[in-house]
Amino acid sequence: MRIKRTIVVLGLITITWSLVLYFTLLYRPIYSETSVNVNRQIVILEQGISEQFKKNNDMINNAQKLLEIKKKGDHGQRQIPKEALNVKIPVLVFACNRVTINKCLDRLIQYRPDPDQFPIIVSQDCNHDETRDVIEKYGNQVSLIQQPDQSDIQVPPKEKKFKGYFKIARHYGWALNQMFFNFNFSTVIIVEDDLEVSSDFFEYFLGTYPLLVKDSSLWCISAWNDNGKEGLVNMNRPDLLYRTDFFPGLGWMLTKSLWLELYTKWPRAYWDDWIRDPQQRKGRSCIRPEISRTRTFGKTGVSNGMFFEKHLKFIKLNEEFVPFTKMNLTYLLKENYDRSFVKDVYQSPVVNYQDLREGRIDYNSPVRITYRNRDEYKIITKKLGLMDDFKSGVPRTAYRGIVTFYYKEKMVHLAPNVNWKGYDVSWS
Ligand SMILES: *[C@@H]1O[C@H](CO)[C@@H](O)[C@H](O)[C@H]1NC(C)=O
Ligand SMILES: *[C@@H]1O[C@H](CO)[C@@H](O)[C@H](O)[C@H]1NC(C)=O
Repeated sequence: MRIKRTIVVLGLITITWSLVLYFTLLYRPIYSETSVNVNRQIVILEQGISEQFKKNNDMINNAQKLLEIKKKGDHGQRQIPKEALNVKIPVLVFACNRVTINKCLDRLIQYRPDPDQFPIIVSQDCNHDETRDVIEKYGNQVSLIQQPDQSDIQVPPKEKKFKGYFKIARHYGWALNQMFFNFNFSTVIIVEDDLEVSSDFFEYFLGTYPLLVKDSSLWCISAWNDNGKEGLVNMNRPDLLYRTDFFPGLGWMLTKSLWLELYTKWPRAYWDDWIRDPQQRKGRSCIRPEISRTRTFGKTGVSNGMFFEKHLKFIKLNEEFVPFTKMNLTYLLKENYDRSFVKDVYQSPVVNYQDLREGRIDYNSPVRITYRNRDEYKIITKKLGLMDDFKSGVPRTAYRGIVTFYYKEKMVHLAPNVNWKGYDVSWS
């Protein structure tokens, strides 16, 4: 309903705006006396109107697309077998000493459709009393488990200042063992105490769960888009999902079978970089959304507060509920995705980033920018405001080297050559 209304409103706005612009400019005193200037005013006016029309048309098209998706969702074939919709998926919340964890828990509880299906288990390290008090106030809405091993960790002298990362890795290892071996869950969603979730957070994970189970080339579902800043995402397509070779973390789901593979070799520190190593990743991908389903609100913590100020705080949190469990998401299975998405990327017209930046692109379709080496990748991403770093040679959000984002109302693929040979771990 909201979308139908949006379409009507947008239509009315288009007409009204055009009329207002037309009359305003027409009756505006033109200070120049020459007809040359009058003509120029008219040309500018016409350009203005046609640009605005185009923009509004694009918006209407997008809104209509979303409406179709929703309609399909309401009446179409349900993709997910009943058992998969009833699967129990606990949310494991990592806590230490941040009392602001209430912000995280409030949202999780507010948006949780069913407490039995999605039990919230807070695992606390650090023995911080005030934080424990905050968690205990939630009563039986959440369960609290506490990391018993508070012993000092022996850290190499050079890494003393990174001790926090050792503690985090130890905590993760302990808590995931609890989830999979003690409580015997088959799937777990991991959240940290400084994350705030969107209204369709649970719907997103439930809807994508069958993909994770079915497609062995997937090893995680993540709620996070590393390039998910306003201006780099299509706000009209909250339904859009992608595959990525980059492990995003920040609200993610894994299965017990992955944990069985990782727990014996779980690292002492820096687990997120470790997990991105080819030896762990083994060529597998995650699903990530166009618009993030989590947002981080904490700027104090182990990792640098600068990163929050410069980047994390601009990541957009999705605001529109998308009925993922009612949608056909099979396009994300590797076989389908490699056939259609990758083909679309390499059939899209090539443009250069300067033209894109200055809005000199005439194509209505998605476009492609080619990068040939690390330095080119760095230059282009810096100029367009994208993340420019690599982990184990994989650029953030990349799938087969392709980084897809949205720029000036266009889908853009920043892509290597079609004969791409794989990631180069020396790129950093
Ligand atoms: C743990 O769960 C699996 C199914 O995921 C089940 O087959 C097994 O019997 C369970 N083990 C225990 C000890 O409950
Ligand atoms: C789901 O989408 C795929 C294309 O990705 C299509 O082949 C399939 O027929 C669709 N299934 C249903 C039930 O609509």
